[in-house]
Amino acid sequence: MNKQALVAYATKYGATAEIAEKIGQLLRQAGLRADVLPVGRVRDLSPYKAVVLGSAVYMGRWRREAAMFLKANRKVLARQSVWLFSSGPTGEGDPVELLEGWRLPRALRPIADRIRPRDIAVFHGVLNLNKLNPVEKWIINNVKAPLGDFRDWNAITSWARSIADELK
Ligand SMILES: Cc1cc2nc3c(=O)[nH]c(=O)nc-3n(C[C@H](O)[C@H](O)[C@H](O)COP(=O)(O)O)c2cc1C
Repeated sequence: MNKQALVAYATKYGATAEIAEKIGQLLRQAGLRADVLPVGRVRDLSPYKAVVLGSAVYMGRWRREAAMFLKANRKVLARQSVWLFSSGPTGEGDPVELLEGWRLPRALRPIADRIRPRDIAVFHGVLNLNKLNPVEKWIINNVKAPLGDFRDWNAITSWARSIADELK
C-alpha cells in the first residue's frame, strides 16, 4: 500500500468528473498523494489506503459502471477507508431531501453495509438541456427539474477537507 488516495467517479456529462477533480485537488493541497480516475480506468485498488467513489444519479440509480465497480471491488473496499458520494439533484435546499431522503440507491445499500464507508455524501448536480438527448430532455421537462449548475463548492470543499483530516 504505497499510494494514499484514489478518487474514482462515473459521469455522463462531466459534472461529477469536476466534483471528483476538485476533491482530488483538495486532497493534494492537504499534502496527500491522490489519483483521480473514471472508474473504467482503475486497474488496481490494492495500492490505495483510501478510496473516494462517486457517481452521478440517473433515474434514481448510479451510473452502471460505478455500481458494477462497487460490487466487483466490495471485498477490497471493505479493507480500505472508503467515502462514497452521489451527485445529481438540482434546485435549492438540502440535496439529501431533494433525493427523497436517501444517499445511495437502494440496490447498493447492502453492498455499502458490508464496505462500511466512513461517510456517504450527496452533492447537487448540473442540468443543461443543450447537452441532453431528446429522451432525456423529455424526461427533465416532464418532471420539471430545475435547470442550471447547482453544485455547492463549499459543501464539496468541506467534505474533501474532512477526508484529508482523517487521512493525515
Ligand atoms: C435523464 C436524467 C435523469 C436524471 N435522474 C436523476 C435522479 O433520479 N435523481 C437526481 O438527483 N438527479 C437526476 N438527474 C440529474 C443528474 O444527476 C445531474 O444532471 C448530474 O449533475 C449529472 O452528472 P454528470 O454530468 O456527471 O453526468 C437526472 C438527469 C437526467 C438527464
